[in-house]
Amino acid sequence: MAGVTSVPTDEESETAGEALVSYTREGLVVAVKVGATLLEASEACGAPHGSHCGGVCGCSTCHVYVRSGGELLSAIEADEERLLGGALDRNDESRLGCQAVLLRPGRVLVEITDESFETWLDAHPSEQDRALALRGIG
Ligand code: FES
Repeated sequence: MAGVTSVPTDEESETAGEALVSYTREGLVVAVKVGATLLEASEACGAPHGSHCGGVCGCSTCHVYVRSGGELLSAIEADEERLLGGALDRNDESRLGCQAVLLRPGRVLVEITDESFETWLDAHPSEQDRALALRGIG
């Protein structure tokens, strides 16, 4: 897949201007260049991360919880804040994956919400078995 490299060490990723994004429920890790969004990181490693509007801040199906590393991300802007208001099970760690930009190297730990996962499953019927297996429910 485009953008996927072998997972470097923290030092290697910092030198390369990359951030490491890990997925709590799928066990995936991907290195992406600073400037990428969390949704782009998900797409680079095949994480089942929904994006009904295609990443233009027009839905809330790319909702994730940023379990750690939130300080590496861009701040929430008004449009994202408005859409998060309609997201299921929002909490203090909520972000829209298409709006959260990696601003510097480091590690970010992400949990894809159930709503986002289900959106992805609906959009990728031929890949459902793989996605369910990643979550240990296949
Ligand atoms: S994909 Fe629709 S708001 Fe992010």
